[in-house]
Amino acid sequence: MGKMRLDKYLADMGQGTRTEVKKAIKKGKILVNQEIIKSPEYKIDVQADIVLIEGKRIVYEDMVYYMLNKPQGVISATEDRRAKTVLDLIEDKKRKDLFPVGRLDKDTEGLLLITNDGELAHQLLTPKKHVDKKYFVRLKTPLSEESRNHLEEGVDIGEDKLTMPSQVFFLNEEKNEVEIIICEGKFHQVKRMFQAVGNEVIFLKRLSMGSLVLDKTLQPGEYRLLTSEEIERLKKNA
Ligand code: URA
Repeated sequence: MGKMRLDKYLADMGQGTRTEVKKAIKKGKILVNQEIIKSPEYKIDVQADIVLIEGKRIVYEDMVYYMLNKPQGVISATEDRRAKTVLDLIEDKKRKDLFPVGRLDKDTEGLLLITNDGELAHQLLTPKKHVDKKYFVRLKTPLSEESRNHLEEGVDIGEDKLTMPSQVFFLNEEKNEVEIIICEGKFHQVKRMFQAVGNEVIFLKRLSMGSLVLDKTLQPGEYRLLTSEEIERLKKNA
């Protein structure tokens, strides 16, 4: 990571605005390697230096990765004046540059990756890569075998082309609960696909995205940091 100005280091780690941290620095509240540093432009060696603010160690985090089980009723945006966003749910966040990787509809639940790693986000979202996404779907009416085949081969959702091949698995006798794996991510894609075969999605939950699988212990609204294995696997496959 190399070197970075002290005021940026502290502001990036959520210790206040740039102006606020400058004031704190000038007041002598910051220790770098046991020494009071009063200049905001002091260059921190991000790997090696030990930075304390009022006795508390501030470790710099460059890229961060959270797995959120998005609850219904929350929007996949970074800011919204009226509605609650997925970022409002991440209470322990330090960085201000986090964003959700892709969007789930307001009434969709499930796996959402939240990060500040723009490169990884691009790799996961670019249509060229065809990253698999798996969803649990509850339908208004049972799905016929014919509709299932139709969905797997590709359906007309009003775009230039039919949807790309998908996989659909029945989960229950009534055939109104299925899993679908798609490798595209068009707006409302899953809902539009089932609509195209005369059905209707009444509940939708994302279960996985590429190699990343929703942690079953996370209740809707709960989140955790990705493990280093999860991060490595995602990067490797992307
Ligand atoms: N497809 C949809 O229709 N909605 C989502 O939220 C995700 C995929």
